[in-house]
Amino acid sequence: MRIQLKGDAICTLLLVLAFCTLLYFQFGRTSPRGNQEEKHRKPSTKSKNLPNTVDFRKHPQMRLKITQARPRHISGIKQAELVSKELHRSAIVSAVTYSSFDFQQYLRNKDERNFSLLINQPNKCKKTQRDPFLLIAIKSTVEDFDRRETVRKTWGREGSINGLHIQRVFLLGVPINKTAIVMWETLVQHESQIYKDVLLWDFLDTFFNLTLKEIHFLNWAAEFCSNVNFIFKGDIDVFVNIENIVDFLQAHSPIEDLFVGDIIDHAKPIRIRKSKYFIPETMYGLGMYPSYAGGGGFLMSGSTMKKLAQACEEVELFPIDDVFLGMCLQRINLKPISHNGFKTFGIVKPSAAPHLQTFDPCFYKDLMVVHSLKVSEIWLMWNLLHSPNLSCTKQQSARKPFRWKKVT
Ligand SMILES: *[C@@H]1O[C@H](CO)[C@@H](O)[C@H](O)[C@H]1NC(C)=O
Ligand SMILES: *[C@@H]1O[C@H](CO)[C@@H](O)[C@H](O)[C@H]1NC(C)=O
Ligand SMILES: *[C@@H]1O[C@H](CO)[C@@H](O)[C@H](O)[C@H]1NC(C)=O
Ligand SMILES: *[C@@H]1O[C@H](CO)[C@@H](O)[C@H](O)[C@H]1NC(C)=O
Repeated sequence: MRIQLKGDAICTLLLVLAFCTLLYFQFGRTSPRGNQEEKHRKPSTKSKNLPNTVDFRKHPQMRLKITQARPRHISGIKQAELVSKELHRSAIVSAVTYSSFDFQQYLRNKDERNFSLLINQPNKCKKTQRDPFLLIAIKSTVEDFDRRETVRKTWGREGSINGLHIQRVFLLGVPINKTAIVMWETLVQHESQIYKDVLLWDFLDTFFNLTLKEIHFLNWAAEFCSNVNFIFKGDIDVFVNIENIVDFLQAHSPIEDLFVGDIIDHAKPIRIRKSKYFIPETMYGLGMYPSYAGGGGFLMSGSTMKKLAQACEEVELFPIDDVFLGMCLQRINLKPISHNGFKTFGIVKPSAAPHLQTFDPCFYKDLMVVHSLKVSEIWLMWNLLHSPNLSCTKQQSARKPFRWKKVT
């Protein structure tokens, strides 16, 4: 009787043990992987139901990691960037949203990659006394006239800094809605005549055609600006501290490779298969993109520009221009360098500095590129930074425990 009871107890115990083991393998072991995935995902309701999954909302340390990891991830920030870029260009791409993008059409047309230059600036880089030091190339659209005017007057000024020659071009395509802007052709022709800073190509200026803009610009630069020392290429809605950029570049050689920006590593790809079928959902799960720079702004040497122009010719068109350029970089085996002064995802208030004032000239003083500013903010920031009244005392910065690191 006693022995039998013991046997029953042992049996029950064994069963419980087996059940626990089963539970452990079902849930316990998935938790580290689960966390990995959680890093890239917003907290889902699913995680609440899994008892052994760590709820990172309860662990602030993990949360910090998560927020830091996010900018490196395609489905998080990159997607947000796509969305914000699209919103910014909503006037043009209102009909084209990321989800309704016709990938099959894109794949069918991807061999059409040589469009003619409608407005050229063939003398942009003509040697006066010295070769131009820096060419500022800004992605713009015809309707962004106000922004062009502001950039011309502020950080995108042509002229000289430290005795070094700065030149500027705007990169334009044909507007998709030709009636939205009154006499758009006359407008750009006049801009071209007066400022000599407009390049216009004969492709539709849409978000997904930015890759065309990239390759056409590189080919143009290789042909008409091969003597330039360095190139800054960026968006029109960025603030650029051009003096910092010149300082930085003066320590580098134009005949050596250089590619610097806000580098995104290990982003999960949007994979376009050679087949006709492309399923956007599958693009996140598989493999990785090569390292690439956020398109808000990056720097390259003249030498790198020429190599990239060549390399990009051999790379299949890819609808996200930043990633496309990453593929070209990979082709020439050049690892892009990350620099903390490039805030191409905008200044996100880091959790380490909740008191931070993001629109503070003392703050921008040490930066190089900040993405997503309104046209008035660009104008104001430039004027604040160039005001004799600007004083950023050491005391002031010492009061702030958080500072962007300045990398040299
Ligand atoms: C693009 O087409 C033009 C003529 O339309 C040609 O001269 C040029 O070589 C072509 N460029 C490339 C890269 O194919
Ligand atoms: C083009 O712009 C005009 C004027 O803003 C607008 O009325 C029209 O609906 C637009 N057309 C398309 C196709 O978006
Ligand atoms: C890119 O431009 C070409 C030429 O204008 C146009 O046919 C095509 O539809 C555009 N592609 C996208 C994705 O907007
Ligand atoms: C700059 O400082 C001067 C003298 O201290 C003052 O008169 C002027 O109003 C200031 N300008 C601005 C824009 O704050």
